[in-house]
Amino acid sequence: MTALLSVENLEIRTAARVLVSGVSFALAAGERVGLIGESGSGKSLTALAVLGLLPETMRVSGSVRLDGHQVVGARDRDLVPLRGRSVAAVFQEPMTALDPLMRIGDQVGEAVRRRAARDGAGLARPAVKAAVLDLLERVALPEPARIARAFPHEISGGQRQRAAIAMALACRPKLLIADELTTALDVTTQAEILTLLETLVCDEGMGLLFISHDLPVVAAIAGRALVMRQGELIEEGPVGTLFDRPAHPYTRGLVAAARAFDEALEAAL
Ligand SMILES: Nc1ncnc2c1ncn2[C@@H]1O[C@H](COP(=O)(O)OP(=O)(O)OP(=O)(O)O)[C@@H](O)[C@H]1O
Ligand SMILES: [Mg+2]
Repeated sequence: MTALLSVENLEIRTAARVLVSGVSFALAAGERVGLIGESGSGKSLTALAVLGLLPETMRVSGSVRLDGHQVVGARDRDLVPLRGRSVAAVFQEPMTALDPLMRIGDQVGEAVRRRAARDGAGLARPAVKAAVLDLLERVALPEPARIARAFPHEISGGQRQRAAIAMALACRPKLLIADELTTALDVTTQAEILTLLETLVCDEGMGLLFISHDLPVVAAIAGRALVMRQGELIEEGPVGTLFDRPAHPYTRGLVAAARAFDEALEAAL
């Protein structure tokens, strides 16, 4: 079976420095893969390379095949059709995805309209509105009609994150990239968003590349994980194996830190 995403020997460099090197991995259709590693290890750059959104000052080599298309070296206008249909992304700070001057309903509606146009079907205004309310309901936003009328600053951070997920879902991508999606949220909201994401991804049969520096969070949502450090992929495997038999000292450190945190939590209860 051909992979939905296949990254081979990816290297990203600036004039001064190599930021990512020798990164290879594949993700099958409908597969959920975690990408984990310390701050600055190259996780977000790897995600941006998949989206074809790296800054122009960076040089990229190797291969990123997404849904049958080569992303490395492709012209931006050739990538536009891939974004939304093949891949969509949600980032840590949903304000970067949301237009502060546009009502939530209009923003999600725009994504709904674009998808309909892509599928060759125009949608009348009431149908767009109904689709928007349905999406807001699916991401478990309370009072969808009120949220649809609200501007991003009028709703909470967790609600903004749900709205950003609704926008990504409206595109019905084959691959969803979630980059530190829950880092800025409190623990309860974080758990709710994770459960929601898992349900939605499973329902739609979407592939998921889930980026986090938190191993237990990755273990909760992904079957397999990739570990990055200093721009390189140092280990990969099923999350259970990474937990039980981490091979690389860095992964062992991550597991030990997660266990120590758990034990401290239990002792405190
Ligand atoms: N626009 C840029 N110009 C130059 N260097 C950059 C740029 N963006 C990122 N870097 C560098 O590339 C390296 C990898 O960054 P990246 O954002 O991929 O890390 P990350 O693993 O996502 O970290 P975090 O967990 O903090 O989000 C870092 O050393 C960073 O400083
Ligand atoms: Mg990052």
